[in-house]
Amino acid sequence: MVTTTDLVIGAAYLRCIGCNDEVRKPTAEFACPRCGDRIEVAYRREGAPDAAALRELWRERKTSAKPIDQSGVWRFREALPILAAGSEAVTLREGNTPIYRLARSAKSAGVDELWAKHQGMNPTGSFKDTGMTTALSMAREKGFEWVGCASTGNTSASMAAYAAYAGMRALVLIPEGKIAWGKLSQSLDYAATTVQLRTDFDGCVRVLGEVIGQFPLYLLNSVNPYRLEGQKTTAYEMMEQLGWEPPDHVIVPGGNLGNSSALGKGLREMRAMGLIGRLPKLSIVQAAGANPLVRSMRESGGERLQPVKAETRATAIRIGNPASWKKAVAVLRETGGECLDVTEDEIGVAKAEIGADGVGCEPASAVTLAGLKKLTRSGFVKRGERVVLVLTGHCLKDPEYTMDFHRAEGDASMRKPPVLLDADAAAVIGLLGGMER
Ligand code: F0G
Repeated sequence: MVTTTDLVIGAAYLRCIGCNDEVRKPTAEFACPRCGDRIEVAYRREGAPDAAALRELWRERKTSAKPIDQSGVWRFREALPILAAGSEAVTLREGNTPIYRLARSAKSAGVDELWAKHQGMNPTGSFKDTGMTTALSMAREKGFEWVGCASTGNTSASMAAYAAYAGMRALVLIPEGKIAWGKLSQSLDYAATTVQLRTDFDGCVRVLGEVIGQFPLYLLNSVNPYRLEGQKTTAYEMMEQLGWEPPDHVIVPGGNLGNSSALGKGLREMRAMGLIGRLPKLSIVQAAGANPLVRSMRESGGERLQPVKAETRATAIRIGNPASWKKAVAVLRETGGECLDVTEDEIGVAKAEIGADGVGCEPASAVTLAGLKKLTRSGFVKRGERVVLVLTGHCLKDPEYTMDFHRAEGDASMRKPPVLLDADAAAVIGLLGGMER
């Protein structure tokens, strides 16, 4: 039996990614007060931890009856010692999500071994829950009554749930008309104050920044570095599920670029702790209509980012001015991953393929498979390499998109529209008899 006190890894502090200084008091928007850059959580570690003992401890906790151990985030708490002693985490038992083998999609992408780490299987149906448990716990520890976010829908659904569970108040700013119904309805059901602004996501971020300057509200967008600490544990869990043997490639969607930054941080820290021996290549896929990082990499090698006016039906990643782009560039450089974009048609087909594997996901998540197909065609991913797609949201988040895809005219290969028949068994049998495999 291993005890936590044997394995304390180090104390957490905040550090600026620009000037590298310790940040004792960030601005309300989590910028460095000196140079204005983004900040991250760093750890003062004393000596190398015992990797084998950590793995054993984290595995043991899966059978514990304690809420904190049942969380797939806090199960790894030695890797994120952010809460003060005596503080309690707010957990809805996030994480511990399945990793599925995708047979059909593998064939279509041209690889032998394809996995989907399904973050849509979290309590509110997206990966946001893994970061919300950490950042909202910090908000409560700091004594805030109000939390707030600007969102394309999943962050707001997650924040609303965790705030309600903790007995706190939540302000949600979302772009009018450009949010999937599943997500909007969650925010209402979890009793957040939900405001639809006549603007896009980037406009919502701007307005929230102004609100925070004048109202005591704790910001829960992914510029909040404690969000990324929770989200990084998905990488830990993925490695654990693969027997601590890193895959060759991990592929993630890119919107505000918090998730790719978080997963990259998790991988980097795991290597430093001796939990894995090498880094997988982490590639980021954007929608062609919302591809500021792709352009930045192409035009300046990631030195500068020009915001774009974003447009895509994958509304989760309809983002033109991503907050964490510098962190994401660092991850691409460190892991040697690619950054690419895919068209609306490619997203639609890829989503239907993941659905036809029995797994399903929301449109933004499907960019990963669409991107993989391009990466195998270009030779960046080889047939014999092991690939993990990070599916970020549940298939039920955006049923309207799915219905429109299957009912649309045109290329029929992946479309499965409902068939309307008279109430007659012979008609049903006739249909089945005429079907091809
Ligand atoms: N996939 C889904 C389903 C998302 O909801 C998001 C982001 C992303 C991918 C992109 O992740 O922003 O970390 O690069 N959704 C945010 C929101 C912005 O407000 O729910 P990212």
